[in-house]
Amino acid sequence: MKAIVVTDQAAGTAGMKLVERPEPQAAINDVVVQVQASGFTWDELTWPPTWTDRRDRDRTPSIPGHELAGVVTALGYGTTGLSVGQRVFGLTDWYRDGTLAEYVAVEARNLAPLPGDVDFTVGASLPMPGLTAWQGLFEHGRLQAGQSVIAHGAAGVVGSMVTQLAREFGAYVVGTGRAADRQAVLDFGAQEFVDLENDALEDVGPVDLVFDIFGGDIAKRSARLIRAGGTLVTIAGPAEARPANGLAVDFVVESDRVQLSEIVRRVRDGRLRTSIGTISTLDDAVATFNRTERRKGKTIIRVRP
Ligand SMILES: NC(=O)c1ccc[n+]([C@@H]2O[C@H](COP(=O)([O-])OP(=O)(O)OC[C@H]3O[C@@H](n4cnc5c(N)ncnc54)[C@H](OP(=O)(O)O)[C@@H]3O)[C@@H](O)[C@H]2O)c1
Repeated sequence: MKAIVVTDQAAGTAGMKLVERPEPQAAINDVVVQVQASGFTWDELTWPPTWTDRRDRDRTPSIPGHELAGVVTALGYGTTGLSVGQRVFGLTDWYRDGTLAEYVAVEARNLAPLPGDVDFTVGASLPMPGLTAWQGLFEHGRLQAGQSVIAHGAAGVVGSMVTQLAREFGAYVVGTGRAADRQAVLDFGAQEFVDLENDALEDVGPVDLVFDIFGGDIAKRSARLIRAGGTLVTIAGPAEARPANGLAVDFVVESDRVQLSEIVRRVRDGRLRTSIGTISTLDDAVATFNRTERRKGKTIIRVRP
């Protein structure tokens, strides 16, 4: 099969190569999926599991990309819940070969059925931002209706999902970003916008929850805005900032079939919009990832155009 591999961490996306690889086999509880569309997160090549296994041994050449939408072609021993020919989407294990390939082996529990009226491109754009927003708001942030939330980077791939889900849930949402993002953030449903480069974040009143994607100074300044009993949730690495009288949670998103189904249900009925930027093919993917201009939205590779 055709697949994109990486072997050299220092090379970044310039080190990506389109090569021939053996098709994966389905292990216990796996399915093999013929990938129709694949999602790649722009900083994946800086993540340790792209390079090493769970015992920290080199696992290169590795296939990046962890989001997918496709069709099940084989079941491993003991696999239940999915069948051959079924349309699926989901998030694959960080430590296994990923989805920038014609086929991928995935544990079935990491996938959910993809309804027939949802395009594969849309399906592949949902798992990472949708699950991250869902888990950060509702599991780790324990958001309640009527509470206030700062959604950082609210025009971005994750932040726009955070903004929409929090608003739908009945929260008061303050979205942040760059000056040019103001209208996009308000269109995603935020009631207020803070331009992080020109406005004072400190002018935002006390809030119950901060959903941080940046870390560093912005996370520290945000922690001071959290009222007693509130939570700082971050996806930017180990939490360095901590609210004086609240919780700080850092987490890495996990796949979850029920949550995937909730997310795609909202896309179908129009409550949730996904942020797709560039769409490319597997043959053109390496060139696409190496373009120098700033990309907005999720890059999706249509593996089967
Ligand atoms: N831990 C986890 O489980 C997890 C899960 C998903 C994602 N992540 C991580 O979360 C991060 C965000 O991912 P994403 O896909 O949402 O990225 P993204 O689409 O680039 O979103 C970031 C947003 O923040 C804006 N922004 C960046 N720097 C800013 C600044 N200094 N001031 C104001 N606005 C700024 C960006 O604007 P511009 O486009 O103009 O720069 C963009 O709108 C990535 O590092 C990703 O790896 C972690």
